[in-house]
Amino acid sequence: MTAPNLLRALRGERLDAPPLWLMRQAGRYLPEYRALRAKAGGFWAMASDPVLASEVTLQPVRRFGLDAAILFSDILVAPYALGQDVAFHEGQGPVLGPVPPSLDFDLSRIGFVYDTIRRVRDALPADKALIGFAGGPWTLACYMLSGRGGDFMPARAAAWRGEIGPLMAALVETTAGHLVEQARVGADALQIFESWAGLCPDVPRWVVEPTRAVVERVRAAAPDTPIIGFPRGLTQGWATYAQTTGVDALGLDERVDAAWAAEHLQPRWPVQGNLDPACLLAGGRALDAEVRRIRAALSGGPFVFNLGHGVHKHTPPEHIHALISVLRGV
Ligand code: CP3
Repeated sequence: MTAPNLLRALRGERLDAPPLWLMRQAGRYLPEYRALRAKAGGFWAMASDPVLASEVTLQPVRRFGLDAAILFSDILVAPYALGQDVAFHEGQGPVLGPVPPSLDFDLSRIGFVYDTIRRVRDALPADKALIGFAGGPWTLACYMLSGRGGDFMPARAAAWRGEIGPLMAALVETTAGHLVEQARVGADALQIFESWAGLCPDVPRWVVEPTRAVVERVRAAAPDTPIIGFPRGLTQGWATYAQTTGVDALGLDERVDAAWAAEHLQPRWPVQGNLDPACLLAGGRALDAEVRRIRAALSGGPFVFNLGHGVHKHTPPEHIHALISVLRGV
């Protein structure tokens, strides 16, 4: 049997119909997600229960026939494995406790993630890929040092003061260990979500080098598992990031011009992206036109259609059906 289309594209093959998945494809915009979440009692209760988490992982694949499932979990399981308290409060986003004094990670604290992967891989058809993921070390440091989302001033100031070396070293080991374990138990591809790369005061030092170290460790243990890097918000240096880190493919946010990416990035790396989630929320003629524009710009090389960031919680599911019919030309 041939490999799932997502893996073919990530390994550098140009496909006539680009494979499709969406960041945050499982989530509050889906009624079946909201129903299960209400029953479970909250996001963390659902994410830490392999039966519920695997069901939520599969929901969008069933509904839309997407080419890949992405593990239903969160990047903040890594700080949790490092012993930090992590809580998700309704309508408020994540809140973290103080950074623990000892930075030894214990992946057995998040064994539920690996159980979820095993269950999803068993249930998923062979032509669909399962994507595992982790936060990039810098993005995890942003949450760990600031305690919550926002402008991450405490983390950015600590980086300027040169105080984050030991934490970043621990995060490289934790992230690499977490990704290796996901590949070992059944993830077919891995994505590194460096969602706050654009806020980093020293991208070469705190984004590129730590990611390179993570990729090196994961490659050594899982040489056949493609890695997608998603350094969201970089204003320059996408090629340097890909070249230096050694990721297999680049996830582009919506601010990267697709025609520029086709000329400067795609000849060397498969690219993934980059429809604006606000355009998917808008729907209608704007959505049609954007899907066509991005597909036309990037279909000349290896390409995975996706958003530039996650699905917004108010997105009508019908807009995803519309996206798919335009993308597939039916
Ligand atoms: O993409 C997927 O469908 C897989 C699941 C997934 C979640 N979080 C589930 C989730 C993934 C890949 C993530 C990654 C994640 N988590 C990132 C990187 C990607 C990005 O969005 O930039 C970040 C920064 C986080 C941290 C985080 N987790 C935040 C800021 C929040 C609150 C956001 C919100 O919309 O309220 C979460 C909670 C979270 N993680 C939800 C989901 C579906 C919402 C939980 C809910 O209330 O049901």
